[in-house]
Amino acid sequence: MSALFSPIKLASLELPNRIAIAPMCQYSADDGTSNDWHLGHFGMLANSGAGLLVVEATHVERSGRITHGCAGLYSDDNEAALTRIIAHCRRNGTAKLGIQLAHAGRKASSQRPWEGGGALKSNEDPWQTIAPSAIPFGDKWHTPRAMTGEDIARVREAFVNSVKRALRIGFDLIELHYAHGYLAHSFLSPIANHRTDEYGGSLDNRMRFGLETARAVRAVVPRNVPLGVRLSAMEWKDGGITADETVAHAKALKAEGIDFIDCSSGGITVDTRTPTTPGYNLPIAERVKRESGIATRVVGLITKPEQAEAVIAEGKADMVAMARAMLDDPRWGWHAAVALGAEVPRARQYLRAGPKLWAPAAERAKA
Ligand SMILES: Cc1cc2nc3c(=O)[nH]c(=O)nc-3n(C[C@H](O)[C@H](O)[C@H](O)COP(=O)(O)O)c2cc1C
Repeated sequence: MSALFSPIKLASLELPNRIAIAPMCQYSADDGTSNDWHLGHFGMLANSGAGLLVVEATHVERSGRITHGCAGLYSDDNEAALTRIIAHCRRNGTAKLGIQLAHAGRKASSQRPWEGGGALKSNEDPWQTIAPSAIPFGDKWHTPRAMTGEDIARVREAFVNSVKRALRIGFDLIELHYAHGYLAHSFLSPIANHRTDEYGGSLDNRMRFGLETARAVRAVVPRNVPLGVRLSAMEWKDGGITADETVAHAKALKAEGIDFIDCSSGGITVDTRTPTTPGYNLPIAERVKRESGIATRVVGLITKPEQAEAVIAEGKADMVAMARAMLDDPRWGWHAAVALGAEVPRARQYLRAGPKLWAPAAERAKA
């Protein structure tokens, strides 16, 4: 019996296996509004065999987008477009559907990766960014404006409003983006947060923005709908968040009613280098699971079926998330199921490609 292909329940959501597709920005929306690229992309990934598909970082206010092409959920147009895409995925795909809600903070107003990935230049319609402190992400980056109490309240309310829209659309799961140097992570990190008020300094103060936002969001997300948080559990940077702080943060989020933590890492400054070794987030994910008792997902160079199987079988995390491997092979879940002797849900139009009806697939797996 494969551990990777065993079911898991998060709040009232039952997932048929432990594979999640990690959120992946497509930088292809129009003023936050998704389009036919997303219809094809998510439609494809909804038939990967993964139990859960998490829609890309979707921003809670226009100025909270990373790039001009980033997705948003701050307008009726954004909501209507995503409603159509999610209805398509539900009708034609097999994965349950989650969404990651985000605010880019000091990493907003950027170029798309294929346009250079730096700060928008003066002739590229840049905008004023906000952050806990007026410290840029790196050289040649915009200097953000330090957020006032009013800004903090507005962004918190923007998260709540976007969550309401996500619930209306009918997402099965909601995840808050507290990783990769974006707004909530930058509040937590002593590298980016030099505030001297109740939002800076001690760990309790640095956690405050994220915990208050989580509390406000939890108040509108029904208990049966899983609500999770993606963290940069390691910063890979001297003077950054410690592993002990990450564990304490996970416990505090759990106390706010958060159902799961996704352990990612890095991204707090432009010169941060994230490791490139397989499963590089596993040690911290294992600690978060063991010491906080919250359900965990782990991401980061998990690419092989046997590797993913071992993560779950050895109890290192409750789920694995994959990004690049899924773009490379959008039937990763099907192929992993064959390799591990498991079953995977398939759209009925594709049933004839399953190993039971197509001997070569089973033969390939044995070879
Ligand atoms: C094209 C692309 C877009 C990404 N966009 C997001 C995003 O929207 N939100 C996020 O939390 N991480 C994002 N990431 C990071 C991935 O979710 C993942 O954490 C990272 O790629 C490591 O996993 P992997 O080794 O399986 O690719 C993105 C990664 C890629 C490759």
